[in-house]
Amino acid sequence: MKYIDRKNTNCIKWDGLENQFGEDGLLSMWVADMDFACPVCVTEALRKYINAPLGYFKPPLSYFEAVVRWEREHHNYEIKSEWICVTPGVVPAIYWAVRVFTKPGDGVMVSTPVYYPFMNAVDHCEERELVRCELKKAGTSYEMDYERMEEDIVGKNVKLYILCNPHNPVGRVWTEEELRKLLELCRKYHVMVISDEIHQDIINPMLGRKKVTAATVGDYDDMLITMAAASKTFNIAAVQNSFVIIPDKGNREKFQAFQERMSVGNANAFGYVATAAALQGGEAWLREVTEVIFGNYEYIKRRFEEECPEVKISDLEGTYLMWLDFSSFFAGKREIKEFLQKKCRIAMDYGSWFRGEGYDAFVRMNIATSRENVREACDRMIRALREEV
Ligand SMILES: Cc1ncc(COP(=O)(O)O)c(C=O)c1O
Repeated sequence: MKYIDRKNTNCIKWDGLENQFGEDGLLSMWVADMDFACPVCVTEALRKYINAPLGYFKPPLSYFEAVVRWEREHHNYEIKSEWICVTPGVVPAIYWAVRVFTKPGDGVMVSTPVYYPFMNAVDHCEERELVRCELKKAGTSYEMDYERMEEDIVGKNVKLYILCNPHNPVGRVWTEEELRKLLELCRKYHVMVISDEIHQDIINPMLGRKKVTAATVGDYDDMLITMAAASKTFNIAAVQNSFVIIPDKGNREKFQAFQERMSVGNANAFGYVATAAALQGGEAWLREVTEVIFGNYEYIKRRFEEECPEVKISDLEGTYLMWLDFSSFFAGKREIKEFLQKKCRIAMDYGSWFRGEGYDAFVRMNIATSRENVREACDRMIRALREEV
């Protein structure tokens, strides 16, 4: 995997530190993208495309074919081209879907701690109530609390649930049984489900089971929307392209009507070109990056187990985002910030950003980077923690 020093390339991760953390010069392990060059097939396709005049672009058939094939071959999800709505990102698609599929007074449920734009999407939509249902801790992993969910669905007028599969930040790849239980619960109370599967391709090879796409566990077509992209998988977030799969005609027409009303029914040319190329030719690259990511995970786990077992590490079933618990050392936000930024000079997403209860001393660590950066981060954290005791 070709590591790139991305400083001074206008990337948020390295060049946006001052803005997010109030200072520069930190070892950057926050924003969820990779420090690796994307697959060569992507850069070649983009190069070829820019030789043509950059006039208005017609989405190519090959893009839709590539998405259909990828979903079938990698996720056992049989979809039709016409089910695909293209958007310039999963986050905007979630914002729009909240608007389209709920009305003022409705509750929208998420399982916290969770990727914070889910909650922003609800907060920014007038008169929708955000309903946060806590995940339950289960050893070094997490589970859904179905009882609490049912109570809140009923008690707080929940009409939409936003699922994160695999889950950012706790790293769960939900099992078929868990997904079915969730979907049956939602069906019982007529709750629509958005399944954000953007991390679907980054799965721990040691998981011992296949990652399951929510839409494949039964016939939930009338209540389920799947959102995914090639952006996390192949490190091409900058081209802003994602696919929203809506099998139900009525739901699709509602979503498309919104896109039309807002004149946002499309993504840019580079996104189509890069995504199609990645899905068509990026498999070997994906295998290689998966090995690097989960090699990093094993390395970090071993370092902490051997040198500082008080730091609790959640199982990383999927995603390249580790979830670390420093609460044996630190009481809250101020202390963890002091430790991570001042002592270690590292930038990671703070647990409190994910808005669960009791995660102030947690951090999310992006490990899609070089082993050198990972080793350096472990050295700095473990050395500083030794001084704490
Ligand atoms: C769960 C999840 N959804 C969506 C996104 C971002 O999606 P996009 O860049 O397509 O808007 C991220 C990025 O970290 C993510 O973790």
